[in-house]
Amino acid sequence: MLSTHEIRKKYLDFFKQKSHAIIASASLLPENDPTTLFTGSGMQPMVPFLLGEKHPRGTRIADSQKCFRAQDMDEVGDNRHTTFFEMLGNWSLGDYFKQEQIPWMFEFITEELTLDPKNLYITCFAGHDEFGIPRDEESAKMWQGLFAQKGIEASIIDDAQANGMQGAKIFYYPASKNWWSRAGVPEKMPAGEPGGPDTEMFWDFSADLKLHENSEFKDQPCHVNCDCGRFMEIGNNVFMEYFKTESGFEKLSQQNVDFGGGLERMSAAVRNDADVFTIDLFDSARGVIEKLSGKKYGEHSEETYAFRVTLDHLRAATFLIADGASPSNKDQGYFTRRFIRRAVRFASKLGINENFCAEITRGYIETYAHQYPDLETKKDHIFSELHTEEDKFRVTLEQGIKEFEKILAGFARAFEKTGQKFTEISAKQAFKLYDTYGFPLEMTEDLAKEHGLTVDKAGFEEAFKKHQEISRQGSEQKFKGGLADTSEMSVKYHTATHLLHASVLKVLGSHATQKGSNITPERLRFDFAHPEKMTDVQKKEVEDLVNGAIARDYSVTFELLPYEEAKKRNAIGLFEDNYGDQVKVYTVGDPLGVPVADPSADTFSRELCGGPHVEHTGVLGKFKIVKEESSSAGIRRIKAVLE
Ligand code: ALA
Repeated sequence: MLSTHEIRKKYLDFFKQKSHAIIASASLLPENDPTTLFTGSGMQPMVPFLLGEKHPRGTRIADSQKCFRAQDMDEVGDNRHTTFFEMLGNWSLGDYFKQEQIPWMFEFITEELTLDPKNLYITCFAGHDEFGIPRDEESAKMWQGLFAQKGIEASIIDDAQANGMQGAKIFYYPASKNWWSRAGVPEKMPAGEPGGPDTEMFWDFSADLKLHENSEFKDQPCHVNCDCGRFMEIGNNVFMEYFKTESGFEKLSQQNVDFGGGLERMSAAVRNDADVFTIDLFDSARGVIEKLSGKKYGEHSEETYAFRVTLDHLRAATFLIADGASPSNKDQGYFTRRFIRRAVRFASKLGINENFCAEITRGYIETYAHQYPDLETKKDHIFSELHTEEDKFRVTLEQGIKEFEKILAGFARAFEKTGQKFTEISAKQAFKLYDTYGFPLEMTEDLAKEHGLTVDKAGFEEAFKKHQEISRQGSEQKFKGGLADTSEMSVKYHTATHLLHASVLKVLGSHATQKGSNITPERLRFDFAHPEKMTDVQKKEVEDLVNGAIARDYSVTFELLPYEEAKKRNAIGLFEDNYGDQVKVYTVGDPLGVPVADPSADTFSRELCGGPHVEHTGVLGKFKIVKEESSSAGIRRIKAVLE
């Protein structure tokens, strides 16, 4: 049987053969993307290219992208949801379209993975009258033809949601199911956002498992998009050819394909086991939990739930820390903290009450190291972050649970005295648990649920907001996720980041290369390698260099250059093994000159980048460093604004 690593390799090899450039996974913490805290799909880092920017590697790209969806946390515990996962992706950037993508996918699934097409089901877009977007009959017919080649008669129907499968293979669903954009359905998309109809592939784990009969959906007809767990989506082909305007939809300048397939889910299909947590990627970590708890995975449903949450959350935390999100109270680190804490609590339900996170993580690092070698190089850092967080939390957990028990005792006393039954943890009580004992709201909610109680969530959130300082409110805003504006300010900050990068290298030395970047319309954040705190003089020098470049109103231009040529011309941001023949290079100042981060030189910076940027530096305003601090070992972080 194919291992999960073999499936990943087969997929990448398959698309390499079809002339795709294979790129490395981007970080879980998006760079230069003000719209979201985490990379949640393979297409996210591709957005500029789907909109028409030239990708340095060409028009056919494939990868296996690390993804994290914090919003799916509550779904974890069933047989198929995980917050961290790898998405296999292939993209046509104005190159091939449906005619190639659909047969390729069918070939990959039936020939490479050797999955039986009898158990494969397809959904297609039913159309959207209001926006004038037609039903995708072309895709449905193509699938039908492919099934026919395998001797399978695949009928196409419309009403599976209401009337069940009716022996069909291909189903039309409305935009709520078969339309994809970062913002969701067409109605929710902001102007400028790309999207399109999609066609999804489902694997049937068989009716014999009786998952439907035993689910909460048993009174409704079962169909591929039913949530009973019998069918699992294993891949989604998005035909991204539209973008939203103020008044409706228009075609993009190019027809794109955006395919995303869950690697773990494909692996589950290959094993034909509907439980994603039984695939090999979890073997080692699952074994550690079994050893430490003395319990066997899959024996009791409540324990299975706790196993799954622990497995999922610690895998997510491992990758989050590796990508720079150490546990903290704000931004992405807040999620790392929350996930570790939740894992500790669920593991305690399995009887694990000693520090164990690092041991689980060791299992994951062994499993993943050859695909993600940075896990191995960063492992000491990851272990130490986990240890610290776990130690901290064990103290508060014990005290917090005592506090929670006090609340329960208070409810019981009140009931005895007055006969009044309290069923809700008040905002004040929940906030005390948060503020004094470090319980995130959801943990209080978990505990409450276990005792048949609810929590005054709205009240808590109000108290929480009041409590935040101005800066914290800023990051809280971002937790809401969703799309920020397609803002001019973000573009300005992006160009300012290039000026900053060149200046930091000039002032501190060539070791001080970029390690991360995050831009919002309010500020830029730039991480770079440097072993110590910058002095005030150095900070001033950097600011002066950047402001000097702004004052000279340099032009900002880009060229597509062969990799070797870009290297010869000292472009920064190049990594040996990451790029193909052509790379896109932005130059601030004279495009023919040699880059020197000195405002009196003709060329200020030259950097590999996908864009977008302003056309002239003069529009940036005044650059100011507001903070210089440590980000992690050997990495410093600058926050800066344009005034
Ligand atoms: N971008 C598509 C998805 O995430 C492929 O499902």
